[in-house]
Amino acid sequence: MPIPFSHRLDWSLPANRLSQALEHRKPRYDLTASNPTKAGFHYPAEILAAFQNNAALKYNPDPRGIAEARAALNLAPHTILSASTSEAYGWLFKLLCNPGDAVLVPRPSYPLFEFLAKLESVEVIQYSLQYAEGWWLDFDSLEKQLTPNTKAILFVHPNNPTGSYLKRSELEKLSQLCAARDIALISDEVFAEYPLSPDHTRAATLGDNGRCLAFVLGGLSKTAGLPQMKVAWLTASGPQAGEAISRLELIADTYLSVASPAQHALPALLHHGAAIREQIQHRTQTNYKTLIKSSLRPLHVEGGWYAIVPTPRARTEEEWALHLLQSESVLTQPGYFYDFESDGWLVLSLLTPEADFASGVQALQRQFTV
Ligand SMILES: Cc1ncc(COP(=O)(O)O)c(C=O)c1O
Repeated sequence: MPIPFSHRLDWSLPANRLSQALEHRKPRYDLTASNPTKAGFHYPAEILAAFQNNAALKYNPDPRGIAEARAALNLAPHTILSASTSEAYGWLFKLLCNPGDAVLVPRPSYPLFEFLAKLESVEVIQYSLQYAEGWWLDFDSLEKQLTPNTKAILFVHPNNPTGSYLKRSELEKLSQLCAARDIALISDEVFAEYPLSPDHTRAATLGDNGRCLAFVLGGLSKTAGLPQMKVAWLTASGPQAGEAISRLELIADTYLSVASPAQHALPALLHHGAAIREQIQHRTQTNYKTLIKSSLRPLHVEGGWYAIVPTPRARTEEEWALHLLQSESVLTQPGYFYDFESDGWLVLSLLTPEADFASGVQALQRQFTV
C-alpha cells in the first residue's frame, strides 16, 4: 500500500494553459516580472559587505530576533523577526487558529493565502473588494462570511494586485467589527513604501488602530528588494499584543529560523536598501505613467507593484494571455490567478524594465484594437 500523504493541500494541481505554453517558448517581454533581483536594478556593494561581520560567527539566538536588528527597524516594542512574511503568516495562523478555524481574505488578492492557510489546516474564506473608480471593501460580503470559527481578517495594504489601500473610514468600521467579535486583524504592509498616487483618505497603517488586536507584516523582500536575504518582521498592537508576542516568541523559538548573518546585516541592509527601493519606486512610477498614457484604460492604481487592464470581450482573459504570448511574445497574467470575481482582466507587473514594459504595452494596444 502506498503511504497516504496528508490532505492539507491539493497536491496534484494541473499546470494551467499558460504554464504549458511557456514550456515551449520564452517570452520576449515578460510583463509578470516580480523578482527585483532579476529586474535590472543596481545593488550597491555595501549589501554584500554587510555580511562581513565577525559577530555572526557566534550563535546567540533570540527568538524575537537580535536586539540590534530589531532596533534598526525602529518599530514598536512588540516586534518579532521571521525569515519571510510567509513564515509570519504560518506563525499567526498557529497562534490564532485551531485546525478547522477560518480566516477571511480579500478577493482579488495574493494567491499564496490559500496555501499558507491550508498548510496550517485553516480554512480560507473570501470577502470582496469591489471597483468603482477606485477599490472599496464590500462590508456586506465580509459580514456574511463571519462565523464563530473566524479568527482573523487579512488585508493587504496596499493590496496585490489591486494596488488599493484601506481608507480611514473603512479601518474604523473594520477594527470595530474585529473588536466586537474578538477577531484579530492581520495587515500585510510589505508594499507600504510604494505609493503611486496620493490620497488623504487612506489609512497610514492598520496597526495601532486603538481598537482591536492587529498584526502588521513587513519585510526586506519588498522594502529593500532583497527577498533572498530572508528577513521579515511582524508587529503586534492593541489589546493582548504583549501576550500575543510572548506566544509568538514560543513559536519562533521552536524554529529559530532567521539566520544570524542576515540579522547582523539587517541595519546595513535597511540603510543601503534605500537605494534599491528608490530605483523600484522610480520604475513603478515610470511604468504606471506609460500605462496611463496608453489606450489600455488601466484600473486606478494607488500603490504597489502591479496594475490591472481590462481585456476586450472577443476572448477570455486566459485566451488573451495565450494569444499575446503567441502573437507578440508578451507574457501577462490572467486575472483568475488572483481570483477576480469576473473574467476580463490582465495583471501587469510595474517592476518590468521600462523599455520592455513600454514595448509590451504597445503590443497590447495593437492586439486590443485589431
Ligand atoms: C502581498 C504579499 N505579501 C508578501 C509577499 C512576499 O513576502 P516574503 O518574501 O517576505 O514571504 C508578497 C510577494 O509577492 C506579496 O505579494
